Amino acid sequence: MKLLVTGGAGFIGSAFVRRVLGTGDRVSVINLDKLTYAGNLDNLTPVSQHPGYRFVHGDICDGPLVNSLVTDERPDAIVHFAAESHVDRSILSPEPVFDTNLRGTFTLLEAVRRHHVPRYVHVSTDEVYGSVDAPHEADETYPLRPSSPYSASKAGSDLLALSYFTTFRCPVLVTRASNNYGPYQFPEKLIPLMISNALEDRPLPVYGDGLQVRDWLYVDDHCRAVEAVLAKGREGEVYNIGGNRALPNLEVVRQILAATGKPETLITHVADRPGHDRRYALSSDKILRETGWASEVQFEDGLACTIRWYQDNPEWVRRVKSGEYHEYYARNYANRG
Ligand code: NAD
Ligand code: TYD
Repeated sequence: MKLLVTGGAGFIGSAFVRRVLGTGDRVSVINLDKLTYAGNLDNLTPVSQHPGYRFVHGDICDGPLVNSLVTDERPDAIVHFAAESHVDRSILSPEPVFDTNLRGTFTLLEAVRRHHVPRYVHVSTDEVYGSVDAPHEADETYPLRPSSPYSASKAGSDLLALSYFTTFRCPVLVTRASNNYGPYQFPEKLIPLMISNALEDRPLPVYGDGLQVRDWLYVDDHCRAVEAVLAKGREGEVYNIGGNRALPNLEVVRQILAATGKPETLITHVADRPGHDRRYALSSDKILRETGWASEVQFEDGLACTIRWYQDNPEWVRRVKSGEYHEYYARNYANRG
């Protein structure tokens, strides 16, 4: 099985590449990644010498590059992770999410259509459903009501991908996962940001009242689910992937402080995110029914592993938190009070 993976130097993509190359020599991977601020080849050190691994530095919006990769390599499948993936950045600068998440997805879909790629897995998010009122859970037929430029671009790209199945019979599958956490996550998202701030005794900036709810999915569980959909999913279908663990943000932050032995006085309530979704909740019944996948990692265990990883990898953290990170941090947090 030869896979063209996009965004394989990011958090989830790199976990997927490490996983599929680690499971034997029957899989090879071409990793197409632009290496934005979120792309990091250090994430792939464990597999960089693997004979079945090839890295291509490039942009998914680059049609000639994507076409030549697909015609030269003839992948059995494309697994599309590459994205501008952060809500706060999409609020500060909306343009990159439309370039990569929409135009980039279009470019890949055109290559799938023209060159008859046998399978295309489009990795998306539960954020496309927008805020879901308790006690409901979004299943795959739930209306799409994205709130941020990020989630709107993901919803748009999901619909574009599905249209290529309906119109052109392209072998498209869409996954929608809940909030991921785990090692190698860029410290702009809630869990790695709070862990790394706590370890440095810095304030933990909680947006608004901190009672917004997210469902947490350990990254390896997500990667297993993408593999399950790649192997067993039905073309033209959407599969939700949840961790079955919904928690208010404040509870997550308190668990991080308890696990790192830091005081709750580090918690600082700051101005809320504009358009902040109050609650995400999704049903993963369909993927369980059709592929047998279920999440396996309990939140407390996954969080403990994640914290240990950040404690054991200060050099990785130091490198990703240098340079551009300081600018971003100042832009996002300076005026929040
Ligand atoms: P990430 O931000 O950590 O990594 C994104 C990767 O894509 C980076 O390596 C970056 O260099 C690359 N990239 C960005 N623009 C590119 C372009 N134009 N061409 C080629 N490469 C490009 O993201 P992540 O958290 O690993 O998310 C991966 C995917 O999973 C995204 O599609 C995201 O929407 C989806 N997702 C993420 C979460 C989450 O909690 N992080 C949850 C559900 C779904
Ligand atoms: P995030 O990790 O950005 O994921 P998403 O917005 O895609 O769900 O944020 C998770 C939750 O944590 C969300 O409700 C916003 C909140 N949050 C904070 O309270 N403070 C922060 O500094 C960050 C980054 C997020």
